Amino acid sequence: MTVAETTFPLPNTAGLRIPAIGFGTWQVDRTAVAAAARAGYPAFDSATMYRTERAVTGGLADAGLAPTDRFLTTKIWRSDMTERGVRSAFHASTRNFGVDTIDLLLIHWPQAAASNLETWKTMEELLEAGRVRAIGVSNFDAAELDALAAGSDTVPAVNQIELHPLRQRKALVEESRQRGISVTAYSPLGQGGPVLRDPDLTAIADDLGVTTAQVSLRWLFQKEIVSIPRSSNPDRIRQNIDLDGFALDDEQMARIDALPKQGRN
Ligand SMILES: NC(=O)c1ccc[n+]([C@@H]2O[C@H](COP(=O)([O-])OP(=O)(O)OC[C@H]3O[C@@H](n4cnc5c(N)ncnc54)[C@H](OP(=O)(O)O)[C@@H]3O)[C@@H](O)[C@H]2O)c1
Repeated sequence: MTVAETTFPLPNTAGLRIPAIGFGTWQVDRTAVAAAARAGYPAFDSATMYRTERAVTGGLADAGLAPTDRFLTTKIWRSDMTERGVRSAFHASTRNFGVDTIDLLLIHWPQAAASNLETWKTMEELLEAGRVRAIGVSNFDAAELDALAAGSDTVPAVNQIELHPLRQRKALVEESRQRGISVTAYSPLGQGGPVLRDPDLTAIADDLGVTTAQVSLRWLFQKEIVSIPRSSNPDRIRQNIDLDGFALDDEQMARIDALPKQGRN
């Protein structure tokens, strides 16, 4: 099975699974989405705040696909975190995507506990009504997960957090997984910054004949962490999902696990 075909379980759902890799759509246009769709990305990560939901559906259409052919995620922005706001944002997202049901709906950023809970309760109702297949959170720490759990029996399916070889979030990954919450890594390439120039990653990439971006994404895949890389460059869009012709051995995995040296673990 290829990386693009691989899915990971979402334990807190009725058997739903999430593709191991998706395409990040912050600041991308319809052309990039179409390139990603043609390259075989099985999922697309959007958000009300990105204003890219229409570009997702448009790009999929350009590639000959319907929005229901791919796993679609969107997020509730902080200004919509009331019962009324969530309902209105959700309906706008379904209109933008051109779907009745959204695969995964996330709280984009935690706010005050009462606001998180009001938002979550409304998302639970959308889940119960079958309008979303799974609900989750983003940028939640362990205390915020606990506060949500204190007010609701519905455990998030996903916690989407910034995570890459130089920011590994080991404690939060463990805290999330102990609760049965699947972790998605956003900015998996460190937004194209120091991660891609890291000397250890570069050395591993050179040994394997691949790029540092591919090493970062393969490391996440082998840790069973979903990643959602973004690119607007057709070659890099294809490169970031071309992760099947090589694997990291135990020594290479351990070397990357030991990388963060900035106290940002
Ligand atoms: N939940 C949240 O709060 C949150 C926050 C941030 C991001 N996200 C999601 O996560 C997605 C990905 O994160 P991100 O957009 O922050 O950054 P990212 O995917 O870590 O990095 C994207 C940057 O890396 C460059 N790049 C991509 N592939 C490359 C490659 N193979 N070689 C060299 N450079 C490469 C891109 O430039 P080119 O376009 O020129 O290739 C772009 O500048 C977002 O698009 C969004 O969907 C979520």
